[in-house]
Amino acid sequence: MHVGFLGCGLIARAHARNLSGVAEIVACFDTDFRRSSAFAEDHGGNAVGSIDDVIDRSDAVYVCTWTSVHPELVGAAAAAGKAIFCEKPLAVDLSSATTMAAVVGKAGVVNQVGLVLRHSPAFRWVRHQMNRPAAGPLMSIVFRDDQYLPIQGLYGSTWRIDSARAGAGTLLEHSIHDLDLLRWMMGPIGAVGARTANHHGHDGIEDQAVVWLTTRDGSATATLTSIWHDLLDRPSQRRVEVFCRDAYFAIEGDWHGPVQWERNTTDGESGSLSGQELADAAAGLDGRGANPDAEFIDAIRSGQPSYPDFAVALEAHRLCDAAYRSAADGGSPVAIGPE
Ligand SMILES: NC(=O)c1ccc[n+]([C@@H]2O[C@H](COP(=O)([O-])OP(=O)(O)OC[C@H]3O[C@@H](n4cnc5c(N)ncnc54)[C@H](O)[C@@H]3O)[C@@H](O)[C@H]2O)c1
Repeated sequence: MHVGFLGCGLIARAHARNLSGVAEIVACFDTDFRRSSAFAEDHGGNAVGSIDDVIDRSDAVYVCTWTSVHPELVGAAAAAGKAIFCEKPLAVDLSSATTMAAVVGKAGVVNQVGLVLRHSPAFRWVRHQMNRPAAGPLMSIVFRDDQYLPIQGLYGSTWRIDSARAGAGTLLEHSIHDLDLLRWMMGPIGAVGARTANHHGHDGIEDQAVVWLTTRDGSATATLTSIWHDLLDRPSQRRVEVFCRDAYFAIEGDWHGPVQWERNTTDGESGSLSGQELADAAAGLDGRGANPDAEFIDAIRSGQPSYPDFAVALEAHRLCDAAYRSAADGGSPVAIGPE
């Protein structure tokens, strides 16, 4: 299985590490040649001179550039009939994301998106537990996601404060993960409302978003608070609390835990899981493991659909677009049509 990379920055390297021993990286291209040559040196393959060269040499293409370029590169890989892994968000706006989902669907290529937290042991375990009848019905989720403005520290990218390349700020660029997770945990969403604010003053880049989401039957409501601050000791941090009628779950570390729980049994029950114990408890839940890249390659080899795919990402884009429309209208509810 020959894999090529378009864009050789931070997230490309994370995927390359996951692909080690799973598939062979044969080619990469970055408009910054220093990045592609360093990537090839570390992860294998050749730093080639064009997008087409990467696509020609590869069975599967990773699209890991900044967001505004994703549609063009996905279109080129789909036209060549290659399997595609595209980073989230798919695009800077809903209409481009809708076109991209249609393009890969029409091309019939295996496709996956970087909504990687759907493979997280912490989220998979809690979702499994909250859906058990003993937990009772879901009532509410309190979801907080904060990190420093990601033009500094680990991210060190300037494009994240350029709305032409990033599309928008913390909600689209980062918390599209969280909107996707909330829809996955809650089921189909019926309405969304949001307020956003901009404390850093970068045009079109909100650094604060507070969103509420209600299930279609109105029985459960979640809030999401997404913040980009300047606390350099706080890289991506999530804390999620799930309230069911008969159970409570808290996720502190979004991959390895800890996750904590309390249950309303006759003698009371509470506990905590993290690290290897959590990974073991989550193994195989939903039929998946914790390496999204290995599953992408497996799907190509077996000719099966991959997960999560562009159709899943499109639903997160619809929620994100609705939240921005609500915020532009002072926070009024926006109904979400059928999926
Ligand atoms: N799934 C996740 O958790 C996650 C985490 C971080 C980033 N991302 C997403 O991944 C994408 C990249 O983010 P990053 O942090 O790796 O950014 P980055 O700045 O580290 O890397 C992006 C690279 O794309 C290159 N590039 C730009 N235009 C190009 C083109 N036309 N052809 C080839 N290369 C081009 C840039 O030179 C740069 O090296 C973004 O869409 C981002 O939202 C996802």
